[in-house]
Amino acid sequence: MRAAWYERTGPARDVIRTGTLPDPEPGPGEVRVRLAVSGVNPSDWKARSGVRPMAGPIVVPHSDGAGVVDRVGPGVSARREGERVWVLNGQWGRPLGTAAEYVVLPEDLVAPLPDVCSFEEGACFGIPALTAWRAVTVDGSVEGRTVLVTGGAGSVGHYAVQFAKLLGAAKVFATVSSATKAEHARNAGADVVIDYRSEDVAARIAAETGGRGVDRIVEVDIATNGRLLPRLIAKDGLCAVYGSAKPEFSLEFVPLIVSGAAIRFFIVYELEAKARRDAIARMNDFFARGLVRHTIAARFPLEDCAAAHEAVEGGRLMGNVVLTI
Ligand SMILES: NC(=O)c1ccc[n+]([C@@H]2O[C@H](COP(=O)([O-])OP(=O)(O)OC[C@H]3O[C@@H](n4cnc5c(N)ncnc54)[C@H](OP(=O)(O)O)[C@@H]3O)[C@@H](O)[C@H]2O)c1
Repeated sequence: MRAAWYERTGPARDVIRTGTLPDPEPGPGEVRVRLAVSGVNPSDWKARSGVRPMAGPIVVPHSDGAGVVDRVGPGVSARREGERVWVLNGQWGRPLGTAAEYVVLPEDLVAPLPDVCSFEEGACFGIPALTAWRAVTVDGSVEGRTVLVTGGAGSVGHYAVQFAKLLGAAKVFATVSSATKAEHARNAGADVVIDYRSEDVAARIAAETGGRGVDRIVEVDIATNGRLLPRLIAKDGLCAVYGSAKPEFSLEFVPLIVSGAAIRFFIVYELEAKARRDAIARMNDFFARGLVRHTIAARFPLEDCAAAHEAVEGGRLMGNVVLTI
């Protein structure tokens, strides 16, 4: 199969090569997907740059992708052959991810792709959409609640704003850093958009919530934004943390303990099986009804995998980067 891979970690252009690798075969309980598109996420360049140990001597990067099931292993219904699908966790805990013509995965990591969704869109579901879903829903219903999504124009943030609205949040706040990003977050349904570089976020939230603060926070960068938490969070509110610009940070203890705030960390790859199944079913329902917008910021051919990594690592794009296989 055609594939992109690396045999040591380092800068994209130094370590990523493209060429031919043996076709993988599905084992018991597994399916093989012929990929049309591979999704590139920050986690992929972080892994490639050496943040986590390599999962094998050769790593085909990327966890997200979409395509068609072309072969099934023992114990998997042959009816899955020919199914349009999106995949999750392609390169989490295993070496061969989705930057290739084929990926082999346990069948519960291969979800049906609604007919109305393109393969490019499906390649955004495994990390950006599922992370957003988890962050918004981890503490139960948001119906009638106030939700703040920091980085509301980011890949995850843009889905989080939409899911919060679709799930009946009373008011959704989003922080952004530019007018273009503000428009993107507003188009996703954010009721109040705050430029966190030029405005006093805590003062705006206090003014908009009558001093209560928000019930839920979907946090892209706890290391930077944690200092604001005591002034943002409502009594017994929850901050779902999926990102941090630094490996360590500190929080102000007294106001947080008085507020009863909870802070919930999670990584999308490690969702428990039932939570993952439920999320897939509920997100797919919204996707199938055409209720969710997807943003493809840039497309690269498989052979330009290194450039795709650089584009994501640069952090300037608004939306997802995909590789066309
Ligand atoms: N835990 C998980 O399972 C999980 C899953 C997905 C992603 N992540 C992590 O989450 C982060 C975001 O991923 P992504 O794919 O959404 O990236 P992205 O598309 O680059 O979006 C990040 C957004 O956050 C904004 N931002 C950055 N720092 C901010 C801050 N301090 N306050 C408010 N907004 C801020 C960025 O815009 P400006 O810089 O212009 O403000 C950008 O719009 C990455 O670190 C990624 O590794 C974790």
